Amino acid sequence: MIGAIWAQSVDGVIGDGQGMPWHMPEDLRHFKLTTMGNPVVMGRRTWLSLPKKPLPGRDNYIVSSRNPGEWSTGAFVLPDVPDLATDTWIIGGARLYDSVMDILDVIEVTVVDAIIADAYGDEAVFAPPVPEDDFALMKDSDWLQSETGHLNGSDVPLRYRFLTYERKVPKDHV
Ligand SMILES: NC(=O)c1ccc[n+]([C@@H]2O[C@H](COP(=O)([O-])OP(=O)(O)OC[C@H]3O[C@@H](n4cnc5c(N)ncnc54)[C@H](OP(=O)(O)O)[C@@H]3O)[C@@H](O)[C@H]2O)c1
Repeated sequence: MIGAIWAQSVDGVIGDGQGMPWHMPEDLRHFKLTTMGNPVVMGRRTWLSLPKKPLPGRDNYIVSSRNPGEWSTGAFVLPDVPDLATDTWIIGGARLYDSVMDILDVIEVTVVDAIIADAYGDEAVFAPPVPEDDFALMKDSDWLQSETGHLNGSDVPLRYRFLTYERKVPKDHV
């Protein structure tokens, strides 16, 4: 099973190039529960954006043309997306998601109830659209109210929603 996991605003924003636009503890718990124990693969910019690295309890892989060094301590650096044979989670960012859509079996999306693309302007980094021809929505939590989750620079608690998409025609990963 190859999965991708991300959190996006209603209008598709996942970040500003440096970090995420919100702090959402429920999503962080969901991310941890979903990925724990499995390898995680990320682009260089996502690695650099992690407040604590490497992510514990998971082998961390960074896709980058750069040589490993001090910057990558605690992770494995790969020049390309590897052939993935075991259960693995692709954890971003946008550039990496775009390049792996064809090999995904599962997509876990957290939707944060905010519209922020205009506010972020050119800095906005967007999730790829989930291709509806290839993926079916299998689970939808409906809107849930976060206790403390909020946009950066705001203290208004936000709603969020967990969506699980699965590939309609399963692919074989040998
Ligand atoms: N909301 C969420 O769930 C979520 C999740 C993850 C990230 N984010 C946000 O997304 C933003 C970062 O995303 P991003 O799209 O700017 O960067 P990214 O995909 O994390 O990293 C881009 C870099 O990774 C390498 N790379 C990515 N895909 C590659 C591929 N297919 N083949 C070879 N190299 C590849 C390249 O590194 P080199 O230049 O070194 O060759 C590229 O410059 C941040 O704001 C982060 O906070 C949000």
